[in-house]
Amino acid sequence: MNYKIALIRGDGIGPEVVNEAVRVLDAVGRKFGHSFTYVDVLMGGCATDAVGKSYPDGTAELCKTCDAVLLGAVGGPKWGSDKPAEQRPETALLALRKDLGLYANLRPAALRPALADACPLKRETAERGIDLMMVRELTGGIYFGKRGRYETEDRGVECTDLMAYSEMEIERIGRRAFELARLRRKKVASVDKANVLETSRLWRSVMHRLAQEYPDVEYSDVLVDNCAMQLVRDPSQFDVVVTENMFGDILSDEASMITGSIGLLPSASIGDSAPGLYEPIHGSAPDIAGQDKANPIATILSAAMMMRYSFHLADEAAAIENAVDAVLAEGWRTPDIAEPGAQAVGTQKMGELIAAKI
Ligand code: IPM
Ligand code: MG
Repeated sequence: MNYKIALIRGDGIGPEVVNEAVRVLDAVGRKFGHSFTYVDVLMGGCATDAVGKSYPDGTAELCKTCDAVLLGAVGGPKWGSDKPAEQRPETALLALRKDLGLYANLRPAALRPALADACPLKRETAERGIDLMMVRELTGGIYFGKRGRYETEDRGVECTDLMAYSEMEIERIGRRAFELARLRRKKVASVDKANVLETSRLWRSVMHRLAQEYPDVEYSDVLVDNCAMQLVRDPSQFDVVVTENMFGDILSDEASMITGSIGLLPSASIGDSAPGLYEPIHGSAPDIAGQDKANPIATILSAAMMMRYSFHLADEAAAIENAVDAVLAEGWRTPDIAEPGAQAVGTQKMGELIAAKI
């Protein structure tokens, strides 16, 4: 089969980590008899520099001509929050999610066996294992609600950000979570703030209705503040965690931290039709850009998620994941995950090692 993949290399370490993912994809293509062709898509701070806006006209349309999108990272201090919206890389990312209808963001957080020592939690907690899938709603809520900024008579400027959710939006992300749980350990924890927010009360009622349709899946409600606490107290209790956009943004950073390296975690953003978007959860790390220091594993594992969720190539996905584990088991480390004082390899070498194991 031939698959066409859009590459958004982006800013900072983005281009370097995408290169290594492409190296691994090409190895997968050779081994399994697929051909991957790539289409470069300009987006992010680099697009602002080149054409004056972070989300050039036609970006989504170009991505839609492809079967999937692989993104390195966008952002950097050069295009900060003092810049107009159309120049900021984050604006582009949010617009792409919306324009491609990517309402489901899957962020797996698992402790890789070779890196159990990197877990910052107590040993007895780490030994119970971490293998959870954060399912974050990605195109609704406060990220996309109406915003306001106005003068008041006596309190200076006041701003508002509206958080809105419809039954339709909650139901479709909920179904994704229950379906995923069926392929895993059959547990769903739905995270909300139903003791305060009306959107959360609707969220909870829709989830309860879905839970009845999936009686084989064990369901629980967890308040978001309690979830933040449980993630560090005993993350082994979680299988699939489903939540709204902003809670998911915050909790997925926490979930990534407890696995030891943000440089290892991939993500998938999918909707009801192609293309899905695959990206590491880390940012553009401008401080180490261009120095061959970045860990390409999160992007390589994002390519594995692409195989699984967009192309339904389970063996190819497993081949990538097993190659990563094998290289880590041999002791190879990039600087971010190396023991203090230990010898580390660079971005390219790590990519070559993983590609060679395919
Ligand atoms: C993420 C990021 C983005 C988000 C930013 C860069 C807009 O933090 O993907 O988690 O908040 O969704
Ligand atoms: Mg985030």
